[in-house]
Amino acid sequence: MTTSPTLAGARPGGTLEPGWADEVRELARRRDAVLLAHNYQLPEIQDIADHTGDSLALSRIAAESQASTIVFCGVHFMAETAKILSPGKTVLIPDAAAGCSLADSITVDQLREWKAEHPGAVVVSYVNTTAAVKAETDICCTSSNAVEVVASIPADREVLFLPDQFLGAHVRRVLSRENMHVWAGECHVHAGINGATLTAQAEANPDAELFVHPECGCATSALYLAGTGAVPAERVKILSTGGMLDAARTSRASSVLVATEVGMLHQLRRAAPEIDFRAVNDRASCRYMKMITPEKLLRALREGRDEVHVDPELAARGRAAVQRMIEIGRPGGGE
Ligand code: 13P
Ligand code: SF4
Repeated sequence: MTTSPTLAGARPGGTLEPGWADEVRELARRRDAVLLAHNYQLPEIQDIADHTGDSLALSRIAAESQASTIVFCGVHFMAETAKILSPGKTVLIPDAAAGCSLADSITVDQLREWKAEHPGAVVVSYVNTTAAVKAETDICCTSSNAVEVVASIPADREVLFLPDQFLGAHVRRVLSRENMHVWAGECHVHAGINGATLTAQAEANPDAELFVHPECGCATSALYLAGTGAVPAERVKILSTGGMLDAARTSRASSVLVATEVGMLHQLRRAAPEIDFRAVNDRASCRYMKMITPEKLLRALREGRDEVHVDPELAARGRAAVQRMIEIGRPGGGE
């Protein structure tokens, strides 16, 4: 059998070539590169990274890192955000085709039309958006700080929140904010984790805690279960992926039902090995996140690809919105 020299690193069947980790580490050292991995990455990628985290934590690390190169193991908008924050650094993503169905759910033209219908409104965009959309945005947010970001906007100002309808509904519910309009976009992975499945699993596991990502279609059902007493309210937690890890470290539950992309289970099990973590939907796997493979990470470091470029004018227009995002909700800082 022949193997492509550029795709060395993994053996057929998915096991890693001996020496893969050493070569990745050595090439990263030679490139002065920091390796960042999102919580939904493959376990091998999470384990080799210098930092694994949620999108807010990784954006902050990218902004503060002293390394001259950032290798972003995540999806394209995350690498683009790192480039917007650090235009002088080289940003690599192991596969530039790793997109995001949520980021694709609004175009910059659609946003401009929406803004024209609501002159004076403050635009809050989830970080899962293209650089062009960020350039038309006042403040970005992630699932970790969306509530704090919207709360920082004076109560009499209209808010346009995009593109995730479930996260938007969560923020509106928490803040009881009527003058907040929410774009009807969704992530195909999280929208597929539905209320019926969550309810059935909660009934079958009456002692389990529920960790639910606010992008999920079932977030409303989770709160409904808490509201009716079907699951005690203190066992229902709506959390970002980083928030889930913090909660796992302090949880006293013996089992937790996890409603988010399945890559999250790896970090949760490492953080709290004594807890039985179960996916609410074990088919909730993001094909874009899983495009970043050990072979492509090695290729990125050997060949310096795929380099991420953001048009400097767009980056300049989006930078203030992204910088406000990384400040708001920062422990000891922000608004
Ligand atoms: P977090 O911000 O919770 O990491 O979620 C981001 C996300 O959904 C990426 O797909
Ligand atoms: Fe985008 Fe959904 Fe994949 Fe996250 S899980 S990268 S929101 S498609």
